[in-house]
Amino acid sequence: MDYLNYNLKDGYKKINALYELNNHLMTFGLDIYWRKKAGIILFKLLQKEKYFENKDSFIYCDFCIGTGEFFEEVVNRIKGVSFEKKSYFIGLDFSFDMINWVKKKKVYKVDNVVLILADVGFLPFKSNTIDFVSISLGIRNLRNPGDVKHDDIFAMRFNEIYRVIKTGGYFWGLETSRPPNKIIRKISDFFTLYVFTNIAKIVSFDFDTYTYLAKSMLDFFDADKFKHFLINIGFKEVDYHLMTFGIVSLHIAKK
Ligand SMILES: C[S@@+](CC[C@H](N)C(=O)[O-])C[C@H]1O[C@@H](n2cnc3c(N)ncnc32)[C@H](O)[C@@H]1O
Repeated sequence: MDYLNYNLKDGYKKINALYELNNHLMTFGLDIYWRKKAGIILFKLLQKEKYFENKDSFIYCDFCIGTGEFFEEVVNRIKGVSFEKKSYFIGLDFSFDMINWVKKKKVYKVDNVVLILADVGFLPFKSNTIDFVSISLGIRNLRNPGDVKHDDIFAMRFNEIYRVIKTGGYFWGLETSRPPNKIIRKISDFFTLYVFTNIAKIVSFDFDTYTYLAKSMLDFFDADKFKHFLINIGFKEVDYHLMTFGIVSLHIAKK
């Protein structure tokens, strides 16, 4: 399949110490805040629902783990409540270098971590087995391989995500979004096109990747459209939180 070859060949193979720094510089550190805020919201939700109280075990899985920054945030938050429970923390990515990076960095402070090299479109899990699946800042990647949008492939990958989540389990998606206010949207587009991505290009000397990044951000759904996309996939309850005027949204979808 061409789209798969594209991702495997060109996607995210140059991982080095500059990669994370670049992400932080490009967002002026906001990405650290977004992950932390998302972690707090999700943890509060689970506590409110008393999710862990009636369970002896659970499985949390972060897809498109990248260098593991969101995985770290969630694992380090829920490890306290998961104490004495049989829990598994799974990180998944189709880039060997990313998985290797997470393994070497060992950001999480728990032992029961499994790292898996796989494509989100072909998940090596049985149906109805995972309690929570998260994707942080990797959702757009599932839709835009190269410079073409593939809504059919995007839906196929989300059908697969839906398949593996337990009934009553959650999908959590943190992603850049299109601010609902038109003026803020224009300012945000300006920053995306001329500020954020140019900083990244200069720091990384990687012009192609970051030109693609800007395009995929401008081309992506707004929060409401993504909510309806998730409902069409089959999720029963879908809600979202906007962060930083809607530059980023956190979707919470229950199966
Ligand atoms: C921007 S990075 C993720 C960042 C990370 N989750 C975080 O919060 O810092 C996007 C990741 O998605 C992975 N990816 C893209 N398409 C994928 C797919 N179809 N299956 C698995 N991983 C994929 C890439 O290899 C890359 O590591």
